[in-house]
Amino acid sequence: MRKSIRGYQCENCNFPYAKWAGQCSECKSWGTIEERTAPNTNTKLNLREGKIVELVGLKGSKNPLDRQKTGLKEFDRVLGGGLVKASTILVGGDPGIGKSTILLQVASSMANMGAKIIYVSGEESTDQLRMRAKRLGQENSPVEIAAETNLTDILTTIESEKPDLIIVDSIQTVYSEHLDNAPGSISQVRSSVMELTSFAKSYGVAAILVGHVTKEGQIAGPRLVEHMVDTVLYFEGEKSIHYRILRSVKNRFGASDEIGVFEMTGLGLQQVENPSALFLGERNSNSAGSVVLAAIEGTRPVLVEIQALVATSSLATARRAAVGWEPARLAMVMAILESRCGKSFIGKDVYLNVAGGMKISEPAADLAVAAALMSAVEEIELAVDTIVFGELSLSGAIRQVTQTDSRLKEAKKLGFSSIVLPSGSKFVSSEGMKVIECKTISEFLEKNRITKSPAESS
Ligand code: TYD
Ligand code: MG
Repeated sequence: MRKSIRGYQCENCNFPYAKWAGQCSECKSWGTIEERTAPNTNTKLNLREGKIVELVGLKGSKNPLDRQKTGLKEFDRVLGGGLVKASTILVGGDPGIGKSTILLQVASSMANMGAKIIYVSGEESTDQLRMRAKRLGQENSPVEIAAETNLTDILTTIESEKPDLIIVDSIQTVYSEHLDNAPGSISQVRSSVMELTSFAKSYGVAAILVGHVTKEGQIAGPRLVEHMVDTVLYFEGEKSIHYRILRSVKNRFGASDEIGVFEMTGLGLQQVENPSALFLGERNSNSAGSVVLAAIEGTRPVLVEIQALVATSSLATARRAAVGWEPARLAMVMAILESRCGKSFIGKDVYLNVAGGMKISEPAADLAVAAALMSAVEEIELAVDTIVFGELSLSGAIRQVTQTDSRLKEAKKLGFSSIVLPSGSKFVSSEGMKVIECKTISEFLEKNRITKSPAESS
């Protein structure tokens, strides 16, 4: 263990410093090194001051969760069925992605249903908020707004108004005058979230806090406030693509990885109720390197197109790029194809893309990625009506994944008639679908004829 010393310390990773520096050499965060005092080792715990905590059994009466619908179905779905009373939700995302827009939509929808909603903005003036409300056609909604950044004033307002929901946009602009640090600094953000969370809870008020994502992609510095709140939602998407995905990465009251899909229009964010149709919308005909995956996001099945491109490289080190999928997993799938199927990618640039700006993290995508890569490198198309899913193990075996039935149902709903899945998968019904079970990646390639005979490929 590192010895505790008097001096300075990075607030982010606790790395100790003898003198102040602008950047932490350990976690590379800027402006996080602050002076600290040595812990007082003379204080001895006096057990006589404490009281015995009341202990109860696991069994007993529990209160059902008090959930309130926001009126935006996709938003409710991501929350696990609605907004839980007195819970705190952190909404993160890149600037300009649509956080303020969706929250104003949530606020006005709930206010229209009779809830008392306060929207406090530290980033925009009340005029700007009104302009946005007008654009969204919600100028008559009884949401109460304020442009404020002082934490004490915001807390006092919660105490006196006791709204059903308070939205604070954003936590980086809120500051407490009891701290010397600048607004947006780690201490300020941490203390603002802590105060707002405990205050809102003690008054039974739900709080939605907006957090900007730092360059490293995390809200207000690495893992800084995520543990203090009940739910963490990230707004994902590319600015050039109109679709936005709201994803729950942590939810104490529902499934994590649940997604809600929206489309940014001139009139705000519109809900997309059938995301599979949207993600496959631009796929008119099949081509080599394109494979449709039946993925599960939270509790919902989503069909997405996995595209691969393999081209001869002009560089000394061939390029490998993955958009919407983990590059490390791409390298793993390529290594499996090399060692188990004898397919070499040496001297070839490999690109992988999950169409429509979607991000896939589940291992069930392995088989679809392998299929897309092989289809691209062999220039052989996979049958157009086929859906693929399955996890690859390093031995080349295809492992079973969960929720086969929902994947099958979604595929059928969207008109697919053939499905490739891990051998031994359990499902209730595959009515009307041709099921191709595969044990290994080589069997998969053979059964789907995406491997050329040695004579053809030479
Ligand atoms: P905003 O909600 O301000 O983003 P954030 O709070 O995450 O920074 O959204 C800003 C973008 O959304 C901006 O580029 C304009 C666009 N927009 C629309 O396209 N339609 C709309 O109805 C609204 C309100 C915004
Ligand atoms: Mg904003």
